[in-house]
Amino acid sequence: MSSHSAPRPMTSRKCGPLTGTALVPGDKSISHRSLILGALAVGETYVTGLLEGDDVLDTAKAMRAFGAEVERVAPGEWCIHGVGVGGFAEPDNVVDCGNAGTGVRLIMGAMATTDISVTFTGDASLRSRPMGRVTEPLAEFGAVAHGRAAGRLPLTLTGAADPVPVVYHTPMPSAQVKSAVLLAGLNTPGETVVIEQEPTRDHTERMLAGFGAEISTEITDQGRVITLKGQPELTGQTIIVPRDPSSAAFPVVAALLVEGSDILVPNIGMNPTRAGLYEALKMMGADITFENERLEGGESVADLRVKHGPLKGIRVPPENAASMIDEYPVLAVLAATASGSTHMPGIKEMRVKECDRIDAMVSGLIACGVKVDETEDSMTIHGMAKIPGGATCKTHLDHRIAMSFMCLGMASETPVKIDDASAIETSFPDFIPLMEALGAKFAKANA
Ligand code: S3P
Repeated sequence: MSSHSAPRPMTSRKCGPLTGTALVPGDKSISHRSLILGALAVGETYVTGLLEGDDVLDTAKAMRAFGAEVERVAPGEWCIHGVGVGGFAEPDNVVDCGNAGTGVRLIMGAMATTDISVTFTGDASLRSRPMGRVTEPLAEFGAVAHGRAAGRLPLTLTGAADPVPVVYHTPMPSAQVKSAVLLAGLNTPGETVVIEQEPTRDHTERMLAGFGAEISTEITDQGRVITLKGQPELTGQTIIVPRDPSSAAFPVVAALLVEGSDILVPNIGMNPTRAGLYEALKMMGADITFENERLEGGESVADLRVKHGPLKGIRVPPENAASMIDEYPVLAVLAATASGSTHMPGIKEMRVKECDRIDAMVSGLIACGVKVDETEDSMTIHGMAKIPGGATCKTHLDHRIAMSFMCLGMASETPVKIDDASAIETSFPDFIPLMEALGAKFAKANA
């Protein structure tokens, strides 16, 4: 979604109990990785349950531009014929990753050790995000980046012709940075090592192993030491993408917000590096049960049953921040209705997402009558019995901010309006009809 379409304002108003089953889309992180690793493998990769949101569709387009065959066989079913490690061709045009930070950063890593030059761009949100966090480690392999100030897009990256392996300590908890370095290590002789102090989502490590790479993770005093042996032959795989725990967060929180609700959210990925929100909800006293816990395609999966009930404010453990970083906006909405205050420390990374998510949530919540305190790296939400609502919240091309405020409206005294729902297409194209089928009262609004 590179050229931003006209804004689509929407309102959300108080509704009755939510009931039914919410089939949320496939995991965004795993979907991007399926396409990129499929494109780097030899032979056929067959993916089911792929998220067909704009972010992932932009990655599919990019993989075609690098020479892979990428074909949609049926809804959610995709077939990729890869070019092999080191086989990327030079795209003959700019690669536009739309709104997707994960897409652009992982693709930059994947091409950084091939002797080609690629110019990347994206929408206004992506062009405002820092890319130095990826281009700096990629420079250690020998890649050269020319971007705008502070490494922002549009940016041209020339891959290293003779890459040298790297030992890299990630300076911030970021799975995108870790993954970019590991993907660059694929076409590099010798061992590439990434050391992360705090664990971040480990889909890249799991999937690289699944595709046949030699990769190991050791827990040491320095943190997680991940070692990848370069120049493997990756072999096409069959991948079942679980449903996204970050997307599930919206119907789950909505059911916890609205009195009398009782919903089922099946087939949700419960990888421990992603499950922080669900731990926090349990600490708040949420009535959630994890049914049919099982392993599917190397990831743990469960069906979630969620019932409304009284919740209490908590201190969200900062050591869990990386495992729930995308879920703080919607958790902040829930915290506004809990008894007492919810303190969320250690969340500085929220400021460099699709927008500054601390700023966006604090402004919107305050406009809706909620009391909130903010520091550079924390938010504290003071719960209240009745949320006034009644404001228009700015979404800044950020899907999770848009969906969070639509959830807030469901439990507010007067409707909440968002200035633009279009970004929701990036990760959860069916959000509006799915929530309406559960009982939400959404409507299009005038600008
Ligand atoms: C992602 C990593 C996280 C997350 C993003 C998806 C990934 O970003 O916020 O939505 O798939 O690797 P950071 O690496 O910036 O923390």
